[in-house]
Amino acid sequence: QVPTVTLSHGSAMPRAGLGTSPMNDADAERAVRTALELGYRLIDTAENYRNEVGVGRALKDAPRDEVFVTSKFNKRWHSVEGARQAFEASAERLGVEYLDLLLIHWPNPEQDRYVEAWQGLIALRDAGLVRAIGTSNFKPAHLQRLIDETGVAPEVNQVQLSPVWAKSAEREFHQRHGIVTEAWSPLGKGTNLLDHPVVREIAEAHERAPGQVVLRWETQQGVVPIPKSANRERLQQNLAVFDFDLTDAELAALTTLDGTARPAADSDRSGH
Ligand code: A2P
Repeated sequence: QVPTVTLSHGSAMPRAGLGTSPMNDADAERAVRTALELGYRLIDTAENYRNEVGVGRALKDAPRDEVFVTSKFNKRWHSVEGARQAFEASAERLGVEYLDLLLIHWPNPEQDRYVEAWQGLIALRDAGLVRAIGTSNFKPAHLQRLIDETGVAPEVNQVQLSPVWAKSAEREFHQRHGIVTEAWSPLGKGTNLLDHPVVREIAEAHERAPGQVVLRWETQQGVVPIPKSANRERLQQNLAVFDFDLTDAELAALTTLDGTARPAADSDRSGH
């Protein structure tokens, strides 16, 4: 049983889940099926991943109220009416009546319509079509603007985060505003994080896989990681990150890796 965190509007979100980028419909269907079998209860997709149909096929076999389903919408829907249309299209592709969490995928500040998108999400939550609402890849300045202009803070902000990209100041900002931090690429994809001696040493001390140590660094600090895996054994490993604890010294040692690599995907707005 995966532990949950209560979001600011009251719903319970599993404290770890499955990411599905990049996976096509067939791969996503297979991975989600396996993940659900193994006890995953949070599945993360997006309009942009073009795999909601595959994810939806796998979801059909699970009781709807037992799975926390997240999606995200693209910049063309950054308006009140657009958010509604984006919700309807995602729900249709996924074959669900409601979403547990819907996120604005990127702030797209050059377009400067994310406040309108946010107003659309607030309306969707009021209508009960979406249980929780949030953002992805928003910086504190973007979040502050949502709060200033609507009085409503996102429940979740999903950002690229791992020990090599620790975002301590952003996490602190989230915490101050009751925003749960969700981590994409929580294993530091593209940075050799899992081979780093500091990670290896802590993994050996706990007789755990390096990936589990990195995911524990996140979960122990209240961050919700959504690692992607298409492999049954690694899927299983990635969920077994609540039955051991890192020491404060180990957490701090991992945090010193912050800034030692530049995540490759950070500027890639077509991906995550
Ligand atoms: P695979 O699908 O073969 O398991 P992220 O979610 O941080 O972007 O990382 C995803 C990548 O990390 C995928 O390539 C995935 O490959 C791999 N991966 C997932 N879980 C683990 C793990 N526990 N140990 C090592 N690699 C992993």
